[in-house]
Amino acid sequence: MNGHPLTHTLDVEKLRADFPVLKREVRPGVPLIYLDSTATTQKPLSVIQAMDDYYSTYNANVHRGVHTLAEEATAAYEAARVRVCDFIHAPTPKGIIFTRNTTESINLVAQTWGRQNLQEDDLVILTEMEHHSNLVPWQILAAEKGIRLEFITITPDGLLELDVYQKLLEQMPKLVAFTHMSNVLGTINPAKEIVRMAHEAGAVTLIDGAQSVPHFPVDVQDLDVEFLAFSGHKICGPTGIGVLYGKVNLLNEMPPFLGGGEMIKRVLLRSFVPNEIPHKFEAGTPAIAETVGLHAALDYVAGVGMEKIALHEQEIIAYTLERLEEVPGLHVLGPEASKKGGVAAFTFEGVHPHDVAQVLDRSGIAVRAGHHCAMPLHEKFNIPATTRASFYFYNTFEEVDHLIEGLYNVKQYFG
Ligand SMILES: Cc1ncc(COP(=O)(O)O)c(C=O)c1O
Repeated sequence: MNGHPLTHTLDVEKLRADFPVLKREVRPGVPLIYLDSTATTQKPLSVIQAMDDYYSTYNANVHRGVHTLAEEATAAYEAARVRVCDFIHAPTPKGIIFTRNTTESINLVAQTWGRQNLQEDDLVILTEMEHHSNLVPWQILAAEKGIRLEFITITPDGLLELDVYQKLLEQMPKLVAFTHMSNVLGTINPAKEIVRMAHEAGAVTLIDGAQSVPHFPVDVQDLDVEFLAFSGHKICGPTGIGVLYGKVNLLNEMPPFLGGGEMIKRVLLRSFVPNEIPHKFEAGTPAIAETVGLHAALDYVAGVGMEKIALHEQEIIAYTLERLEEVPGLHVLGPEASKKGGVAAFTFEGVHPHDVAQVLDRSGIAVRAGHHCAMPLHEKFNIPATTRASFYFYNTFEEVDHLIEGLYNVKQYFG
């Protein structure tokens, strides 16, 4: 346990010991302070070992063989689907589709459900705080089919303007697609309320859960959302594995996304009969080791406890915002701590975000600088870029103290 008086929800030091990379020194004598978990999280040994075990002892292709290894690999792959189903409280594993990441999951919905169900002039409602991966797929569809895009605006402190949303709903949108938690502002949106309002207007809903599923409990049945997307690598899992949850009645009606092996029941020279869900959407050999890794990752975070993870991040962001206020010339984007997750994106008067990140790196502090794949959001605030420190359950209050010291160094350096 570290010595900071506020650290009480989790035994962070004990958890940190599970993450080999967190023992690393960036340079001799300079320990890593990893504050970039919004981009990707670090991986515990159990995830690395689960993938190693797959390759070392039962590597085989799935769904295609009767030999022992193929059966073991298939069982592990399908067990991961059941794990994901339980983790997000989905009603059936049939509604869990493995993709590469959140981006691919959203593109899948746009290219299948969207192409099938959206016609010229149909309205899709998004928000001004979306990551590019919940903007560009709809822009591509807009160019192809002439659908209209409208946006729920945000307040200066980064909250959705629900009265604007209410007004937009009068236009009877076909789809409302929004981020559960902003990767820049940290804002946690009232997802259940947004879905409820969309349903009253007859719209289908999609939640970008890239930043919610890893950071607090998410229950798709309670949310009643039609589609939810998230990435394995942001929840202690490997890269290359993502999830799309969908309600089975919609998934059953949707055409396939990619064509090839696995997604078919029967193929003739000029036609095919698609497979049942979820296989209909999983063409080709999937990322088997990564799926096994995702299973181990969900076991790991569930073992830590999603409520505890959320609470720890709540404490750490409250402390971070309080400490950042001390630093002259620093402005944090987004709402007060109680309305956000563990993300602090900020501008620093007179210093370019890339310079901030570079000077912090000298002290081993890994933060991100840029537009964080949310260019329209930055444009809204009239800034080209921000520096972003982001947190997970393995971050300590001492690391926040180092960040603050590092920022004073930046100030001195460019002062
Ligand atoms: C809110 C949000 N949506 C979508 C994504 C895209 O995730 P991926 O690159 O894993 O597809 C991210 C990644 O940072 C994100 O933060």
